[in-house]
Amino acid sequence: MKTFKRYLVTSALPYANGPLHIGHLAGVYVPSDIYTRYLRMKGEDVISICGSDEHGVPITLKARNEGITPKEVVDRYHFLNKKAFEDFGITFDIYSRTSNKIHYETASEFFLKLYNKGDFVEKISEQYYDEEAGCFLADRYIVGTCPHCGNENAYGDQCEKCGTSLSPNELINPHSTISGSKPVLKETKHWYLPLDKYEGWLKKWILEDHKEWKSNVYGQCKSWIDQGLQPRAVSRDLDWGVPVPLKGAEGKVLYVWFDAPIGYISATKELTPSWEKYWKDPETRMVHFIGKDNIVFHCIIFPVMLKAEGSFILPDNVPANEFLNLEGDKISTSRNWAVWLHEYLEDFPGKQDVLRYTLCANAPETKDNDFTWKDFQARNNNELVAILGNFVNRTLVLTNNYYHGAVPERGATDENDESVLAEISAIKKNVEASLGNFRFREALKEAMNLARLGNKYLADAEPWKLVKTNPARVKTILNIALQITANLAVLLEPFLPFSMEKLRKMTNQGKADWANAGRTDLLKPGHHVNKASLLFDKIEDEEIRKQIDKLHQTKRANEQESATILQAKEPVSFDDFTKVDIRTATVLEAEKVPRTTKLLKLKIDTGLDIRTIVSGIAEYFEPQQMIGKQISIVANLEPRRIKGIESKGMILMAEDKDGKFVIISPEYKVSNGSPIK
Ligand code: MF3
Ligand code: ZN
Repeated sequence: MKTFKRYLVTSALPYANGPLHIGHLAGVYVPSDIYTRYLRMKGEDVISICGSDEHGVPITLKARNEGITPKEVVDRYHFLNKKAFEDFGITFDIYSRTSNKIHYETASEFFLKLYNKGDFVEKISEQYYDEEAGCFLADRYIVGTCPHCGNENAYGDQCEKCGTSLSPNELINPHSTISGSKPVLKETKHWYLPLDKYEGWLKKWILEDHKEWKSNVYGQCKSWIDQGLQPRAVSRDLDWGVPVPLKGAEGKVLYVWFDAPIGYISATKELTPSWEKYWKDPETRMVHFIGKDNIVFHCIIFPVMLKAEGSFILPDNVPANEFLNLEGDKISTSRNWAVWLHEYLEDFPGKQDVLRYTLCANAPETKDNDFTWKDFQARNNNELVAILGNFVNRTLVLTNNYYHGAVPERGATDENDESVLAEISAIKKNVEASLGNFRFREALKEAMNLARLGNKYLADAEPWKLVKTNPARVKTILNIALQITANLAVLLEPFLPFSMEKLRKMTNQGKADWANAGRTDLLKPGHHVNKASLLFDKIEDEEIRKQIDKLHQTKRANEQESATILQAKEPVSFDDFTKVDIRTATVLEAEKVPRTTKLLKLKIDTGLDIRTIVSGIAEYFEPQQMIGKQISIVANLEPRRIKGIESKGMILMAEDKDGKFVIISPEYKVSNGSPIK
């Protein structure tokens, strides 16, 4: 294994357009913080870089929606998020922002260097333009009907109803969200990074030289590379971002995914005048912590940028996580389906470590995972309280009771004592190995095994029973329990920094130093420990119920919201309307159409005739339920053959917000064939 002189740890710069939630912490910031705390404890030269990503279309859209400027949006969330990170003990060496002057300079310089070397391809393409507003439209600024599901509010890049990715020219009836007008195609020039030219290099650099990357990361890279890479535009027609530093490029800015990762460099410059050793010395190990949606940018595009620039090092690892869900549903800012960090702290003040613990123990390291409040409660009550807290508390209370807080001598040890002592250093090695491989869940579990071991040791040895009869033995037992306690205070520090600091105050241990981990003489005989106070306390059902209720309320609010009324259709003339023959009819027979799941074949009496209609309602109605029902139909729809059956007409239904169909029946029975008008 290569050894490194220093570490440069970056964590994805969160967009400053909304508050942070548990998904952010679990996916990126808890692991990156554990990693950097661990390296610092080992005395490594490490810096941890983060900041707000303050450009991009979602920020301008949010500003437009709220009637404020993009700058006001990013100011609000930059400071909110910076504080949330601090509150949760995420210890960045700098939390910068991409609206800083130094970033504008760094990003422009970077662009110019590639431009002057002739690394970009210039291309003219046609893009949607809003003639009324006088500007090009980013995909998100174009709304129209989704060609897949008919959602009339699909965006130019995605339909949020059916989840399909779109491009603006696929939208039916596109219009601009700025002026409402129909956009026209207009030519525009942009600069492209020719990723295709780097395919060979990427193949070697990732697929051969970085086989050790996590399989989810490696797999995504491989599939991108295998599909063939295309040149990528690094500029946009937008008025929010780093201006393209060229003459004649007015109204154009750097694409947010071009400028944001350069933010890591600018933030390092802002942090330290000796920034270059972190970015240019191959003996620096650069590690990017990100979520899975960022993989292509950090493993392919940014490395190609760095490689093209030529003077920077490349990431040595990119330990991306998958996504965390919340109570079985995708976390979503727009649907308010999240546990917001600032709200968590209001409801559970002082319990940062409980969340850090839960999110790490259940981190989406290899697959998407689910956060549930029940699991949160169980982790706290059954693990933090019952195992870790209980063990530490017993040890310190007994030491205070028996020896006025002075660490007793360890006398003769038996076989069990020795194996427990040996476990301490074995566990330390396992924790190190797991952390070194970015397996944070495993590392935490292993460290907690030491608390489990301690708990069992005390429970088996029962010093409280021996204290009268065998005081020498009790001294040995408590000495060992104290060494375990002191080791926990070191091993768990990266994971539970608040509680372990508290613990080290109780044990009078001073700063946590990784070099001490694994030692069995951490607390010398005679060393004084303080009175015990509880590290964790039980979380009651009532508190959990409140959180679950809160989510239920959100769900209900969302349902009401999503029951938005269908947009008005174009007016039709009365004459046109009367051309449609809508009338009442009664179902005489109904049966499922064989080998289909959705279709019912209905024989109906229209007053005019008895005819067959095939209708896609089998998921909502049993044939039996339909027989005898009076319904409304469109009688003069042109006949259609469906699964070989001639269907003459259509049954009228209301589609409920959840997609269920409800039959439109007359209030009471009328004669079949009564016109509906
Ligand atoms: N803002 C992006 C996101 O939240 C991450 C940017 S990471 C950077 O997905 F490297 F570009 F900075
Ligand atoms: Zn759709």
